[in-house]
Amino acid sequence: MSSVENTLLRQFLATRRYSLQICSSLEVEDYNLQAADFASPPKWHLAHTSWFFETFLLKPFLPDYTVISDLYETLFNSYYNGVGKPFQRASRGLLSRPTLDEVLVYRSHVDEGIGTLLRGQQAHSEHDAIVERIVLGIEHERQHQELFFTDIKYSLSANPLTPSYTQPGTRGNSSETSTALAFIPFEGGLTETGNEGSGFSFDNELPRHRSWVEPFKLANRLVTNAEYQAFIDDGGYQRPELWLADGWATVIDSGWSSPLYWQNTKDGPMEFTLHGLVARQESAPVCHVSGYEAEAYARWCDARLPTEQEWELAASVHSPPGLGIEISSPHPERAPSETTGALQLYDSCWQWTRSAYTPYPGFKTSPGAIGEYNGKFMSNQWVLRGGSCVSIPAQLRPSYRNFFYPPDRWQFSGIRLAK
Ligand SMILES: [Fe+2]
Repeated sequence: MSSVENTLLRQFLATRRYSLQICSSLEVEDYNLQAADFASPPKWHLAHTSWFFETFLLKPFLPDYTVISDLYETLFNSYYNGVGKPFQRASRGLLSRPTLDEVLVYRSHVDEGIGTLLRGQQAHSEHDAIVERIVLGIEHERQHQELFFTDIKYSLSANPLTPSYTQPGTRGNSSETSTALAFIPFEGGLTETGNEGSGFSFDNELPRHRSWVEPFKLANRLVTNAEYQAFIDDGGYQRPELWLADGWATVIDSGWSSPLYWQNTKDGPMEFTLHGLVARQESAPVCHVSGYEAEAYARWCDARLPTEQEWELAASVHSPPGLGIEISSPHPERAPSETTGALQLYDSCWQWTRSAYTPYPGFKTSPGAIGEYNGKFMSNQWVLRGGSCVSIPAQLRPSYRNFFYPPDRWQFSGIRLAK
């Protein structure tokens, strides 16, 4: 193998190992938990990420590859209709078979296949496509590692015993303050948006193109729990004039009166976290709010959400978070009080923008089923920018576009204001 293939194989194996590592603190009963259709069970994530390598690499490019079960093609297909009709998403938690051990065998089987493919592919006529798809498979698995954290948090939260996924490290005192809120001015003008350079990016970050951005100001940090509490105390959830029509309808239908995991108990304000139920820190960023809540909060304090072009322009002068492939803490921390500039860009909560998730001018999907990865979701969703405490740092960059429906709030999503 050349050094390129060797490096790729090392990256592949490290990514595969980390998926197992983040599951290692689960009890066996946790592996099939699915508290809602959108929160896939850990075992399904382990299988589906293997399915991706099997479907898009081993089946098309490794001639002697044999499958463990033909049915896995259906069971672990997420949404690729070009591959076939997927098993229904809401019932993934019913898949007690294959067992966890069988899924681990499936993972090893796929790992061996990718090793064989990489060792023999230098002379392969599809060499470039193989390398490109393995990189995509690694990036895909990293996205599922983040989803593992968001989904297990949601599923564990449904248990009145408030089980913790992991014990907390040292956390700040709940009364510690974060840096003061300030707005950083930007001149705007003719700017470029979208990924530049030769590194990996998803198709939805391309092509890089020009945008006109009016002068704007962006908050130096995210909105805190205490600031969001003031919105609640001022009747934020009872004042229709603050809300988009769809947002107000969601508030009424869902009975929302606070962010997703907030609880007020006899012991004071708490929130459910991956460390279990803990005291809510006033200075920590508010997390698990929907796009509608972010929008209403911004309107309440006479500001607005940024556009994705504004966010990218502001983030482009800061370094992305580096090449780490593991998260450091599964809960967002307060902004350090001694620092200046735009804080919490990547390591706390995703930041809702007011930009609709639409194709950039000239956007093209790849041919075949793999083209279903991003493009077909460009309808009715909003873009979130940055990253969160459960994102894999190596994935994050100024041009990265996350996207969710505006009522969604089980992701680690927060609020950065703009004016
Ligand atoms: Fe996936």
